Amino acid sequence: MIEQSRTMDHFHYRDGQLYCEETPVAALAGRFGTPLYVYSQATLLGQLKALQTAFAEVDPLVCYSVKANSNLGVLKVLAAHGGGFDVVSGGELFRVRRAGGEPGKTVFAGVGKTDEEIKAGLEAGVLMFNVESEAELDAIARVASAEGRVAPIALRVNPDVDPKTHRYVSTGKKESKFGMDIDRSLRLAEAVAAMPGVSMIGMHMHIGSQITTTEPYGGAVAKGVEIIAQLREMGHPIAWYNMGGGFGINYRGREARPIEEFARAIVPGVTATGCRLAMEPGRVIAGNAGILVSRVLYTKQSGEKRFLIQDAAMNDLIRPALYESFHRIWPVAVPEGLPAPPDDFEAAIAGTEPWDVVGPVCESGDFLAKDRPLPRLDRGALLATFSAGAYGMVMASNYNTRPRAAEVLVDGAEARLVRRRETYEDLIQQECLEA
Ligand code: LLP
Repeated sequence: MIEQSRTMDHFHYRDGQLYCEETPVAALAGRFGTPLYVYSQATLLGQLKALQTAFAEVDPLVCYSVKANSNLGVLKVLAAHGGGFDVVSGGELFRVRRAGGEPGKTVFAGVGKTDEEIKAGLEAGVLMFNVESEAELDAIARVASAEGRVAPIALRVNPDVDPKTHRYVSTGKKESKFGMDIDRSLRLAEAVAAMPGVSMIGMHMHIGSQITTTEPYGGAVAKGVEIIAQLREMGHPIAWYNMGGGFGINYRGREARPIEEFARAIVPGVTATGCRLAMEPGRVIAGNAGILVSRVLYTKQSGEKRFLIQDAAMNDLIRPALYESFHRIWPVAVPEGLPAPPDDFEAAIAGTEPWDVVGPVCESGDFLAKDRPLPRLDRGALLATFSAGAYGMVMASNYNTRPRAAEVLVDGAEARLVRRRETYEDLIQQECLEA
């Protein structure tokens, strides 16, 4: 029996040992080394299914946002279960195709598409392009006409709502670089009617990421319904309401609303338009489907501060350094007398002391957590950093010439290496010594 936790995932402790589904995480670390990303297939598919079910009334096409976790193994599993995709580059489109994803279920977004990328999207037959500016619209129309094709498009409208999230991941306010304000979008829509090479079949909005409350969506949908009515009056055959992504997840405790509540805020408006719903969720599918496993190297104390130095660093998971993001961290094998896991990872826990969990990279910003209650751990002990499945490996770098981590996809009691650990040779392969 697989239990579900508050994070709707399949990582759980049994007799003080962390498991991913039916697989002991310590065994994976032994087999594949650390740092190691471990993904749970049951969690990925459970979240995909939860979205498909909660929004069933508006016949949803769940276009998983590839940027969150673009591993081919992850994409393949989602494609095999009816998932579509949201890509923002020719590279992501290439991955989707390689993983067996259907271009006809793929939306092509992004503020800076090149002519080559537009061409690749047309040739693949993507469902639609999300258009971010007037200049981009001209480019799409030009490339499509030259190819003798008609590009299906959706205008990305910026509804000017505050998603109340971190300023780096907020996109739906009018000062953001994404989309176009409502007036400008409507003016542009007038022009589209007379343009060869494009057909406007959808309307797109994406207001931000890690949104934990439903109100911003309610506000955006209300505006979307009106915009769609006006677009149709102009004669555009709008069949798709693309609400973007952004559903928040529980990083700490229970801060994010469940998917069903988001659905209740969104479905009535979309129903009123008669459109099919397209959505671009990334984090809510992959975030809690992955952990980063690392091994303790050293502990040290400097003044009052205690440092736990382990082998995962900011180059493996940059979210804490970049956004001061909180990730739960707990030993893979829980020492006697400690909870597995604690209810609250920030509160004082008997048997723990505050530690800065840091990596080997030469930067003060290289930390996974600050002042985190953890037990004293010996060299070689394993740590799990939770909620690392989205915007983890995809944002990893080779800073300090550190090979990037391996990735493993677990299905029940089976684990499959879906990306091998990089070697030093991999790291210098593109460089040239000779002139
Ligand atoms: N659609 C569009 C147009 C987007 O810009 C994004 C995310 C998504 C969908 C997927 O959003 P999600 O459902 O995952 O929230 N690196 C940051 C997150 C950046 C999000 C960028 N756009 C982080 O680690 O929190």
